Amino acid sequence: MLLVLLSLAAVCGSTVPREPTIQCGPETGPSPEWMVQHTLTPGDLRNLQVELVKTRVAPEDFSILMNISWILRADASIRLLKATKICVTGISNMQSYSCVRCDYTETFQSQTRPSGGKWTFSYEGFAVEPSTLYFIGAHNIPNANMNEDSPSLSVNFTSPGCLDHVMKYKKQCIEAGNLWDPNITACKKNETMVEVNFTTSSLGNTYNVLILHDMSMPLGFSQVLENKLTRTSVAILVEGSESEGAVVQLTPYFHTCAPDCIRRQGTVVPCSETSPPANKRSMLGDWLPLISVLLVATWVLAVGIYLTWRQERSSKTSFPTTNMLLPLIKVLVVYPSEICFPHTVCRFTDFLQNHCRSEVILERWQTKKIAEMGPVQWLATQKQAADKVVFLLSSDAHSLCDSACRQNKDGARENSQDLFPLAFNLFCSDFSTQAHLRKYLVVYLDGADIQGDYKALSACPQYRLMKDATAFHTELLRAARNMSMKKRSRACHGGCSLL
Ligand SMILES: *[C@@H]1O[C@H](CO)[C@@H](O)[C@H](O)[C@H]1NC(C)=O
Ligand SMILES: *[C@@H]1O[C@H](CO)[C@@H](O)[C@H](O)[C@H]1NC(C)=O
Ligand SMILES: *[C@@H]1O[C@H](CO)[C@@H](O)[C@H](O)[C@H]1NC(C)=O
Ligand SMILES: *[C@@H]1O[C@H](CO)[C@@H](O)[C@H](O)[C@H]1NC(C)=O
Ligand SMILES: *[C@@H]1O[C@H](CO)[C@@H](O)[C@H](O)[C@H]1NC(C)=O
Repeated sequence: MLLVLLSLAAVCGSTVPREPTIQCGPETGPSPEWMVQHTLTPGDLRNLQVELVKTRVAPEDFSILMNISWILRADASIRLLKATKICVTGISNMQSYSCVRCDYTETFQSQTRPSGGKWTFSYEGFAVEPSTLYFIGAHNIPNANMNEDSPSLSVNFTSPGCLDHVMKYKKQCIEAGNLWDPNITACKKNETMVEVNFTTSSLGNTYNVLILHDMSMPLGFSQVLENKLTRTSVAILVEGSESEGAVVQLTPYFHTCAPDCIRRQGTVVPCSETSPPANKRSMLGDWLPLISVLLVATWVLAVGIYLTWRQERSSKTSFPTTNMLLPLIKVLVVYPSEICFPHTVCRFTDFLQNHCRSEVILERWQTKKIAEMGPVQWLATQKQAADKVVFLLSSDAHSLCDSACRQNKDGARENSQDLFPLAFNLFCSDFSTQAHLRKYLVVYLDGADIQGDYKALSACPQYRLMKDATAFHTELLRAARNMSMKKRSRACHGGCSLL
């Protein structure tokens, strides 16, 4: 019985035609079939798809390939089909081009699989580079004759960057630090010291550690030199005592990607031994210069009011109490469009509003008005309205932007324009007269410098934050005080000789 079954199986095996499979190999030049005239040719492909596959070529080296799959059209011409040729053109820094030819091992006897489905095949190959655009074209062989329409199917495929969950295993992505886990921990030791620990990598030998308040104001900096994988600890001297909650930005300089390697971030927390009362004192210390300036200003006003009151005792003029407070000063902030808006401009604006009694005018908040008035008219009006005009410069424009921010920036750019050059050109005639110059300030973040085109700005008072934060404060408060005095003397019709 068993013998009968076995022999039956053998007979069946020899009669049923084997299903076609593919055998693929490179064929960069034209196929030999081009040279021959064909009376009949197979139809085109029905579907072409591309996805990424990761294969391990060595313990620490993965190769990312395309898995190209295609479906054959179920029509009678399938009997003529001998092979399918696939060509891939990659466009990034360099253009690449290569082709494979996949021969079908058998002639097709039916339009569909014996099991019923469409004939589908897939080929794994063509190494994929990160962030590259690929054109993938496929056609059947024998192809159409020289002057006939050659049916072919093509798709575009853009490979993801190193952050992709498959692509990150690519050697160049690993070398750029994609699998590096610095595990940053940072804590505030005392008012002037932050301790940062992180794991270095053997991919490079230099790391910059920056402590940033509000993502944009540098409080402290240190460089670490280390060329192997180890846990490193660095103590960083910080300016100002706002380091708690500040961001640690770690910039690696790996051999393959420096200076544009992916940056990592951590947060400064209080060291476990820091006691809370120390923090309270620090807050007070932080505000002390501001408070004393305010106190002096209030005292000057109070004395002025008292003297005025004595001089004009007969008249019934009395000052509303609001006059005793410094008024808000209006600050127009202009910045080049490369500056990362949320990280740099917004934080600077926060700083002005919360620490400098300022009301900020920003192009971004008035796009509708600008559209109505035109940018020149808008700038001219705002210049009149503003007490101060700040040119904000940041050298770290790109580096401070993470990808989320950049998206935000690009999205917003469409409906927002770069008013910086326009403002510069409109206002620069003021830079030559000392009286007008008072209105303008240049603020640098992250060691920026005035670039060639804007040299005239160097005539304006310049401040580097956070280094010159106190001087900057003082300047704005002085403006506020002058303003309040001007208002008051106007209110007195010139009667207040002392002020
Ligand atoms: C390639 O794609 C085909 C069709 O989608 C699929 O059947 C096959 O498993 C894929 N190969 C790999 C290695 O993922
Ligand atoms: C592929 O991209 C090119 C250039 O960007 C474009 O001309 C073509 O239409 C695209 N083809 C498909 C199938 O999307
Ligand atoms: C990160 O470092 C901390 C402290 O050194 C340690 O407890 C933690 O396990 C580390 N995490 C990883 C993922 O290595
Ligand atoms: C850094 O490492 C040192 C030594 O291992 C440890 O004493 C300290 O607590 C660590 N600090 C932080 C912020 O993780
Ligand atoms: C902060 O701590 C460091 C060492 O941990 C010390 O050298 C420095 O003097 C301290 N500074 C203050 C203001 O306490």
